[in-house]
Amino acid sequence: MSSEDVKATVRERYGQAARQVADGSRTSCCSTTCCGGSAGDPISSNLYTEAETAVLPEKAVLASLGCGNPTALAELHPGEVVLDLGSGGGIDVLLSARRVGPGGKAYGLDMTDDMLSLARENQRKAGVDNVEFLRGEIEAIPLPDDSVDVIISNCVINLSTDKGRVLQEAFRVLKPGGRFAVSDVVVRGEVPSEVRRSMELWVGCVAGALTEPEYHQRLWEAGFEGIGIEPTRVYEFEDAKAFLAGSGLDTEVLAREVGGRVMGAFVRARKPL
Ligand SMILES: C[S@@+](CC[C@H](N)C(=O)[O-])C[C@H]1O[C@@H](n2cnc3c(N)ncnc32)[C@H](O)[C@@H]1O
Repeated sequence: MSSEDVKATVRERYGQAARQVADGSRTSCCSTTCCGGSAGDPISSNLYTEAETAVLPEKAVLASLGCGNPTALAELHPGEVVLDLGSGGGIDVLLSARRVGPGGKAYGLDMTDDMLSLARENQRKAGVDNVEFLRGEIEAIPLPDDSVDVIISNCVINLSTDKGRVLQEAFRVLKPGGRFAVSDVVVRGEVPSEVRRSMELWVGCVAGALTEPEYHQRLWEAGFEGIGIEPTRVYEFEDAKAFLAGSGLDTEVLAREVGGRVMGAFVRARKPL
């Protein structure tokens, strides 16, 4: 799998997911192969409280393809600048915008045009001004150095083929003392090489996931301190069967090897002062 192939497939699949939400043909999360898988939805379901979703446009909630709830776990203060890497339909950007208030700002960054259109439509419906969706790649963030207080992201960094670069870029745009507060899929131990080589499972947020020590190491190499990785949802055998379905691999056998080793986690770190 070349880096360009992965990026093109990710863009195509998430573009398709965005169009399905926009035209109303997708009425629940993950009816296409993306984070959460095609059969069942162990990764993206039930991540937000009713109080959170009640104040959001319906299509922002339907487009949710994350694996955690980073804004619930991140510290966000009024007046701060937040950046969401791979903002999709905008759910976490809209939630952050409420938390930082009119004196703050929430940026979303995504490379998929249909996701950006959906997110901007959701912003319009939500009636919030302190939000801006940027087109670009998380490996080359289109913002100046030292300009962001908090970086959030929800199930996106695992999709990148150059995670070291993403973390260096996150470090660059954060202000000194700025926080990295990200939900992502991580792996504990080894997963079989067939899983690692599957494009379907890469797009489904599993094959590209870093192990906990790899994540720690790359954050440290980028310059971060105060690094912590806390599992928020461990995908057991039945969950693994659901996200392996549609991969063309032997679901039953691999789910035994993968179950309990793949998890949604909250990853935190800080740029030194
Ligand atoms: C799994 S979805 C998550 C969307 C959103 N964070 C959420 O929780 O619903 C991944 C999103 O990241 C975007 N994405 C993936 N790789 C990217 C990259 N290298 N640069 C920018 N956006 C990317 C995709 O277009 C898609 O919208």
